[in-house]
Amino acid sequence: MKRLKNSKLMMVFLALFLILAACSPNLAEPNTDEGDGTKDSKEQEEVTIVYARGKDATGATQKIVDAFMKKHPNINVEVRDMPTDSGAQHDQYVTSLNAGSSEIDVFDIDVIWPAEFAQAEYLLPLDRFIQQDGINLEDYNQGPITAATFNGKLWAMPKFIDAGMLFYRTDLVKEPPKTWDDLIAQASEIQGQGKTKFGYLMQAKQYEGLVCNAVEFIAAYGGQIIDENGEVVIDSEDSVQGLKKLIEIANSDIVPDNITTFTEPESHTAFIEGQSPFVRNWPYQYALANDPDQSEIVDKVAVAPLPEGDAGSAAALGGWLAAINKYSEHPKEAWEFLKFMTGPEGQKIDAIYGSHAPTLLALYEDEEIIEANPFFGEEGFQQALESAVSRPVAPNYAEISEIIQIQVSKAIAGEITAEEAVKTMQKEMEAKLVK
Ligand code: GLC
Repeated sequence: MKRLKNSKLMMVFLALFLILAACSPNLAEPNTDEGDGTKDSKEQEEVTIVYARGKDATGATQKIVDAFMKKHPNINVEVRDMPTDSGAQHDQYVTSLNAGSSEIDVFDIDVIWPAEFAQAEYLLPLDRFIQQDGINLEDYNQGPITAATFNGKLWAMPKFIDAGMLFYRTDLVKEPPKTWDDLIAQASEIQGQGKTKFGYLMQAKQYEGLVCNAVEFIAAYGGQIIDENGEVVIDSEDSVQGLKKLIEIANSDIVPDNITTFTEPESHTAFIEGQSPFVRNWPYQYALANDPDQSEIVDKVAVAPLPEGDAGSAAALGGWLAAINKYSEHPKEAWEFLKFMTGPEGQKIDAIYGSHAPTLLALYEDEEIIEANPFFGEEGFQQALESAVSRPVAPNYAEISEIIQIQVSKAIAGEITAEEAVKTMQKEMEAKLVK
């Protein structure tokens, strides 16, 4: 009798145990977390975060995401492709963030946006995470760190730096051109011999990339948009000279007839299809040109500084940072991903497969990175990064950019002269610039 009672009790316990085990995956499975054992059960639940960025033609983004998910099986990262056009991408984020949407957790931000986004309070400040994880900001290039800082707080982590460069075909070009006039001459000659359809590719559509191309021409001839004191100084003879060279090239026979529809993807595609000996683009062009799945010019490309104007060679400073949506429902997981992507492992993958120039200084000593991108190790490249020209810094940068885009486009179309363009830009920027 007693025995029967005991076995009944045992069965009740067993049933209870089974029910509990079925309800709790932690009881049924051993804890495989490699962490310090202090992680709470919530962290082991599977969480999906959305990471948005401009469509990546190189495939490096997916490799970063895969490497991250391998290390963090409980965090699923869904990549959302946004427009590659920086302005169009900006507008989509602003619409979503203005509405307080939590749909996107982590997203890339162009170096020209932090002031605006921080002021609009769209982003989660990262200082607490950085302190907690002991990240040393001195390991990073200070340019993008400064760009990511606003009102004493850090709003984003730097991913990669961009500087405008000249990519050229080593099978067609003996010596890269020293000046813009040399470029025009070499490009016409190669094109004239029927070796390529075009001589030169650039970005001349009315959008942010045109601002970068214009900044480069203006600076190469000694002009400036805004000086060290924050004053608008674009109305100068030097700026006019720079703009005139841009207008001359954009209207010349060396570029495609529809160059005013060209953004980065149109330029990089024509280049990797072998249609031009020269293209002005950002470093990612190199990885694409050497990708056998996409390119017809593998191993036939080298990189040089952009040609010189009267005052030397100038590259526009670009680049991307990554930030967390203030409304994210998974800030902890979002930070884990952002930390990985902007840390040494993520940046290394991005450098090798996307030829994106790291913001972590130590990575320029990494042999695999230099082997994949020999130009990263060259002195000229480091100099180009250091002397690259910034676009104006302002919380209303988008308005300033629009002024430049409209005036430069009108000047390319021949509706106004270069002189008129700089005068109007001066007047409108003085009226609009918020410091
Ligand atoms: C690149 C640069 C970015 C710039 C954009 C213009 O993505 O990194 O800073 O605004 O090109 O098209």
